[in-house]
Amino acid sequence: MLNKTIISLSIIIMATLACKHEPISTNVIPPNNNGGTTSSNCSPDTVYFTNDILPILISNCTMSGCHDVASHEEGVILTDYANIMATADVDPGNATSSDLYKVLIKTDPDKIMPRPPMSPLSATQIAMIKKWIEQGARNNSCTSCDTSGEMKYTTHIVPIIQTNCAGCHSATNMSGGIDLTNYLGVLTTANNGSLLGSINHLTGYSAMPKNGSKLIECDITKIQKWITNGAQNN
Ligand code: HEC
Repeated sequence: MLNKTIISLSIIIMATLACKHEPISTNVIPPNNNGGTTSSNCSPDTVYFTNDILPILISNCTMSGCHDVASHEEGVILTDYANIMATADVDPGNATSSDLYKVLIKTDPDKIMPRPPMSPLSATQIAMIKKWIEQGARNNSCTSCDTSGEMKYTTHIVPIIQTNCAGCHSATNMSGGIDLTNYLGVLTTANNGSLLGSINHLTGYSAMPKNGSKLIECDITKIQKWITNGAQNN
């Protein structure tokens, strides 16, 4: 009992330290790609764990009380590749026999994930997770990035927020009182400095995405450029 308590306490302390001391890195690949493969070009036919899957799981499943390391509801931890493969019953190549996929498409409100009142994943997100498992559930990532030209709210900013932030910052789950699923919500954080402060992990702001790695440099640049250009609703 005492041992268990000490172990859980150390895990919590380590997790806390890990967040606080995360260096401001300029790597394109987030640090939790340990042991994964990285291609220098993103193929449109491939679903990438680090780019596409992990951000969805972090932002929809790892809030406190759910599948972060400390809470590990039903033993499932969805914060990184190793834990996902060890605890979420993923059968590489076979989505329909993988719990990670099956729970997303349940119709029973007591079985579906995320649980109401949180919104279910979008059809696109569910299809992406299915495809990733069918493509072998690999620990892969890619680094192509195009930040040339004007960054537009709808084309460039909304997809980043949808993938990395919306799960915790929507009308049904307004973490910190912030809803980032509409333009005015995003504009407010752009204007008061908390958007750039939090994604750049600046002192004085909560580091975002909470529980996850820093956004890839490419996405931070896109958001920065959009704000510098007036944070327009374009
Ligand atoms: C796993 C849940 C989660 C994710 C994912 C997440 N947030 Fe947050 N966010 C929170 C919580 C909770 C707070 C309230 C402050 C705290 O507890 O750290 C918060 C606070 C904030 C704040 C206010 C920070 C401050 O110091 O004033 C901003 C801005 C923000 N989030 C933006 C984002 C953005 C942008 C993303 C995506 C890149 C994101 N969040 C992803 C949970 C999350």
